[in-house]
Amino acid sequence: MYLYMLLACALWGSENHFASMETASISAHDNHTAVCAEIQKELSADNIIYNGSFKRPQNTSEEPCYGEFTKVFISTLKQLTKHNAHDHHIRKVYKDMKELTRICPKLEPTESPKNCTTEKSNFSQFKEALQSVVISIEGWKSCKRVKSSL
Ligand SMILES: *[C@@H]1O[C@H](CO)[C@@H](O)[C@H](O)[C@H]1NC(C)=O
Ligand SMILES: *[C@@H]1O[C@H](CO)[C@@H](O)[C@H](O)[C@H]1NC(C)=O
Ligand SMILES: *[C@@H]1O[C@H](CO)[C@@H](O)[C@H](O)[C@H]1NC(C)=O
Ligand SMILES: *[C@@H]1O[C@H](CO)[C@@H](O)[C@H](O)[C@H]1NC(C)=O
Ligand SMILES: *[C@@H]1O[C@H](CO)[C@@H](O)[C@H](O)[C@H]1NC(C)=O
Repeated sequence: MYLYMLLACALWGSENHFASMETASISAHDNHTAVCAEIQKELSADNIIYNGSFKRPQNTSEEPCYGEFTKVFISTLKQLTKHNAHDHHIRKVYKDMKELTRICPKLEPTESPKNCTTEKSNFSQFKEALQSVVISIEGWKSCKRVKSSL
């Protein structure tokens, strides 16, 4: 609904008072750097420490695995939002992570899964790994997939 209205505004053209503002908000929405910055902000604002065991990447430097890792993060975040509806920081992180996969074709998991090893951890370590992956993605110049030479 909201997207549809944005589109309608954009189509109406420049005589519409709000057109330029709405267009700006569309590009901010498509800006992976801005989304990553917001995820980090929300993660540090959230000081709830959840009990239990959470899957995290064993090695957060394995960039070819980020598609797989993102899937794992999102499924955990989804569970957390289900059971902790009041935690609006986590809810925002969940939404932003999904948004990031929409913006970044590079984050689509590859068909031939590499050795993307995950391990069980506590919530603090889960959060640390998520932060570390998001910081790397924020540093990417582009989210487009580059053709690999293999
Ligand atoms: C993307 O967001 C970053 C951080 O908010 C900002 O510095 C940059 O100018 C934005 N780039 C575009 C193309 O909007
Ligand atoms: C985690 O467990 C401790 C001890 O059982 C409990 O006091 C605390 O409230 C729990 N935290 C959350 C976020 O559920
Ligand atoms: C983590 O992955 C990076 C990139 O593939 C690699 O260079 C590094 O050796 C790995 N670290 C460990 C502890 O396996
Ligand atoms: C995958 O990684 C694990 C842990 O780093 C290692 O023990 C295993 O040998 C690796 N498997 C392959 C096929 O590279
Ligand atoms: C999480 O695990 C790490 C490493 O085992 C430990 O140092 C840390 O105290 C744990 N944090 C919590 C909140 O249990």
